[in-house]
Amino acid sequence: MEKVAVIGAGTMGNGIAHVFAAGGHQVSLIDASADFLEKGIATVTKNLDRQVAKEKITQADRDETIGRIEGSTNLQAANGADVIVEAITENPDVKFQLFRDLAELSSPETILASNTSSISITEIAGCVTRPENVIGMHFMNPVPVMKLVEVVRGLETSDGTTEKVLTLSKALGKTPVEVNDFPGFVSNRVLMPMINEAIFCVMEGVAEPEAIDTVMKLGMAHPMGPLALADLIGLDVCLFILNVMQNDLGDDKYRPCPLLKKMVAAGRLGRKSGKGFYDYA
Ligand code: CAA
Repeated sequence: MEKVAVIGAGTMGNGIAHVFAAGGHQVSLIDASADFLEKGIATVTKNLDRQVAKEKITQADRDETIGRIEGSTNLQAANGADVIVEAITENPDVKFQLFRDLAELSSPETILASNTSSISITEIAGCVTRPENVIGMHFMNPVPVMKLVEVVRGLETSDGTTEKVLTLSKALGKTPVEVNDFPGFVSNRVLMPMINEAIFCVMEGVAEPEAIDTVMKLGMAHPMGPLALADLIGLDVCLFILNVMQNDLGDDKYRPCPLLKKMVAAGRLGRKSGKGFYDYA
């Protein structure tokens, strides 16, 4: 089993720590904020408890899984990891600096993976001396449930790094899909224009949010409608990804809907803020 460090204990980070620990790996879950760390571990515990209640796992599985996760607020806890998965906020400069720090504290063999949804893996790799070890490991929300890991190869990512990450993802019970590094990769390149178009439909009064989501759920067999999904992902995250695709692909077909910008400006970010296209109060 590999020793894994996950940086960032938010929605994605705690889900990633959960699946690695459930897969038998020793996990250091690291977040600069003790509060975020505590909340992240509480979320993993709650999700495991639900699985016990539903008799999907035993109490012993639950205890062993949670016992394999060690929380820390110190980045040095990533030292000694075979694989480091970064899942911090989507701020390029903060991410670039984090990768410089991680490259410095880790061994030459350590794989440095990013869960970024749209920041260029090639650009992240450009910040470190071992770009061949840098790769995208893009999990989907909710991480314990969704089968996909989008494995993103930067320009310099080696075959060896890619093979290791494909094997590791399969061992976690996930289905990895290898893609090349282009803005939005495949997942968000295809998903975000649909979400954006659904928001244009709201703005133009084509239909109410519930009606748009029902069309896509019952008409196209999507498990949830695009607006409910936008609320789950976070409207700020959707806006960020659309901006990256518009700028980096240089194509205005990715321009974010003005209503999306307005909702983000108002702090209506979806589930995490209690309000988005739906009310979660
Ligand atoms: N964490 C852990 N488990 C969760 C969960 C969470 N946050 N939310 C739901 N689950 C589990 C439930 O416990 C349940 O488990 P069992 O089957 O073992 O009982 C299972 O998921 C199904 O949940 P529910 O019955 O409550 O509800 P559902 O059937 O409506 O499914 C859903 C919920 C899994 C979220 C489903 O609606 C779905 O698949 N939605 C689409 C999600 C999606 O598209 N995600 C990708 C977003 S894009 C992204 O993440 C990448 C990016 O870069 C933006």
